Amino acid sequence: MLDQAAKEIREKAYAPYSGFKVGAALRAANGEIFAGVNVENAAYPEGTCAEAGAIAAMVAGGEREITEVYVIADSPRPVPPCGGCRQKIAEFAKPEVKVTLATTRGAEMTYTVAELLPGAFVPADMD
Ligand code: THU
Repeated sequence: MLDQAAKEIREKAYAPYSGFKVGAALRAANGEIFAGVNVENAAYPEGTCAEAGAIAAMVAGGEREITEVYVIADSPRPVPPCGGCRQKIAEFAKPEVKVTLATTRGAEMTYTVAELLPGAFVPADMD
């Protein structure tokens, strides 16, 4: 389900500069699925990642907790999220939440949020 959502939305990515389309889908605590794509920009640093899009959709949809993530791209290995996206996911997901990374050719690797970003700085660090 999450995999299908990520695969389908990936086609809608706006990646004219890199040519590298990414789709991300996440499940929120209420069971709803939110998805996003990378959206590039002629001013390159203004581009946003697929994970950021999915998270923005989730928050705009009123949800605040991620229970599962799936990211897919046409990459040689299951697409590794950038450092910034690992931090963005950690903001809304418990350390044990599963993040599956995939290629369009069918390879998959599943990690936990803690494995992707050990020792993440999280909201509780400001208590
Ligand atoms: N990208 C993502 O959207 N998510 C990832 O996990 C890896 C990289 C995007 C950013 C940029 O639009 C393109 O892939 C190439 O870096």
